[in-house]
Amino acid sequence: MGKKDLAWESIGFSYRETDKRYVSNYKNGEWDKGTITSDATVVLNECAGVFQYCQSIFEGLKAYTTKSGSIVTFRPDLNAERMMDSARGLEMPPFPKERFLDAIDQVVKANADWVPPYGSGASLYIRPYMFASSPVIGVKPAEEYQFRVICTPVGPYFKGGVRPLSICVSDFDRAAPHGTGHLKAGLNYAMSLHAYMEAHQNGFDENLFLDPATRTFVEETGGANFFFVTKEHEIVIPKSDSILPSITRRSMMIVAEKYLGLKVTERPVRLSEINSFVECGLCGTAAVISPVGKVTDHGREIRFSDCQEAMGPVTKKLYDTLTGIQLGTVEAPEGWIRKI
Ligand code: PLP
Ligand code: COI
Repeated sequence: MGKKDLAWESIGFSYRETDKRYVSNYKNGEWDKGTITSDATVVLNECAGVFQYCQSIFEGLKAYTTKSGSIVTFRPDLNAERMMDSARGLEMPPFPKERFLDAIDQVVKANADWVPPYGSGASLYIRPYMFASSPVIGVKPAEEYQFRVICTPVGPYFKGGVRPLSICVSDFDRAAPHGTGHLKAGLNYAMSLHAYMEAHQNGFDENLFLDPATRTFVEETGGANFFFVTKEHEIVIPKSDSILPSITRRSMMIVAEKYLGLKVTERPVRLSEINSFVECGLCGTAAVISPVGKVTDHGREIRFSDCQEAMGPVTKKLYDTLTGIQLGTVEAPEGWIRKI
């Protein structure tokens, strides 16, 4: 078998079923040994916990073909740890880290023909997830779970590729104070879908959600964290307990400081101050690093002067360095790249 015959340069961010997936089931207090299978169907009892009380968590990471032709993943250990945190938060049994890493390796190997080639701008998106598989009717955690890893080749998340995005301040909240916003739980995404549709109908690419307690601080979008750049080229990262701790953002902060010598500050960021920044961007596995051209707050437009036509100069440097690390053209910090 060789590489699949896809127009790699023009695939968007949509689901294409690939050949193999990994499945492990949790029963009687333990995970079974897990297996790779061709069976893309899941058969569940109609009263399974996932259908009733939404016990469902997931992760997202990518496999890349590097310049030298290896297939690698980027910091999968952090996805393993975050998924364990999400599991604990939803009273689900954490899937052990070493097994998570092995499952990802197995799925990527089994679907090697689906990993987009170097230079195509595409990558293999990997989606590990876990859900409650046994019946529950009283409001309590289920007793049985399934952990599964699927993957699909993807191109840019936003239609039209890298272009300055237009974002609106949402009237809805994506998370509750002291709730589940910091976990990668399906329920947070269900919460954001109505806001997403409304933003799209109004011509925006995404929502800027505010902090749910005071609605004055910047949180994140439905699927990525924010960063801002000051006139002096310092990076400012919104800090909040109810946003997802993005692995891309945590990596980008290290890249900014250690590779680019930029000052990075993580602090609460007021919506009322963002007009002082010259660049704004989104970061995430799917979003990679995407420039934001403007944020609209109920008719008031806030434009980021250095990212009107294209990526601002600081965003571009962050993008080039981070993607260079992922694609093997820039030396990676120890432990960031896992060769499959
Ligand atoms: N915020 C949300 C709500 C997300 O869904 C994601 C995607 O995973 C991110 C941020 C970015 O996180 P990461 O960089 O780990 O993909
Ligand atoms: C990711 O970036 O991996 C996510 O899960 C976010 C989603 C928008 C696809």
